[in-house]
Amino acid sequence: MKAVKIYEGNHEWVVYGRDPEKPEKIIDTNQYMVRTSHNAILLDPGGMELFAPMLASVLREVPVEQITHLFASHQDPDIISSLGLWDEVLPHAKLHSPWLWEGFIRHFGMKNIEFAQIEDKGGSVHLDQLELQFIPAHYLHSSGNMHVYDPVAKILFSGDIGAALEPIDTPLFVEDFEQHISKMKYFHQRWMPSNEAKMDWIRRVRKLEIKMMCPQHGRIFRGEQVTQFLDWFEALEVGIAIPR
Ligand SMILES: [Fe+2]
Ligand SMILES: [Fe+2]
Repeated sequence: MKAVKIYEGNHEWVVYGRDPEKPEKIIDTNQYMVRTSHNAILLDPGGMELFAPMLASVLREVPVEQITHLFASHQDPDIISSLGLWDEVLPHAKLHSPWLWEGFIRHFGMKNIEFAQIEDKGGSVHLDQLELQFIPAHYLHSSGNMHVYDPVAKILFSGDIGAALEPIDTPLFVEDFEQHISKMKYFHQRWMPSNEAKMDWIRRVRKLEIKMMCPQHGRIFRGEQVTQFLDWFEALEVGIAIPR
């Protein structure tokens, strides 16, 4: 599994993914780690299918006792079905996730890790000097759904928003936004159920200064590509599977 540093300052961001060994039929995912001087958080640490390579990659960067937090944007298996395995290696950790999903996520196995519920209005977590903010993204696509904003690095981890379905060897960053649209369009039309929720999220996110928008599938958006994405998404009709 590849590990790429996407931000380096007083703290760092690393993205893990593009694993050529990944079983073919599971959707490719990006896992992120934010690391400060003594703590680290894994954002959407992934499915149980990729737990072993993910653990090996993460431990190359950070000692296991410093991984003190996990974050699950929602309840999907590609987000957090690895929980029962992390529970064995990180018994000291806290899992931050929407309150709505606690009773469901616990089905993945959780004897040691503490569940820290995120309220509907959002919240935050402190890692040493850094405060990461949980930004509501309900119904996008899950009915209880959070994103993570780093006001220092100006990075938004946007979960399934901005996702693209692409082959495993695809580049990490969006190169040409217009060309990228075809890889994202059906995913957003079909997986996102609510135009109203979409507009609420866009209003919220337009207030943030974002240098990088990092989705859980596909490529990372940089600079003006973030505004291009918001404009494109605003105009896109979602929830298309309702029979007419
Ligand atoms: Fe999902
Ligand atoms: Fe996903």
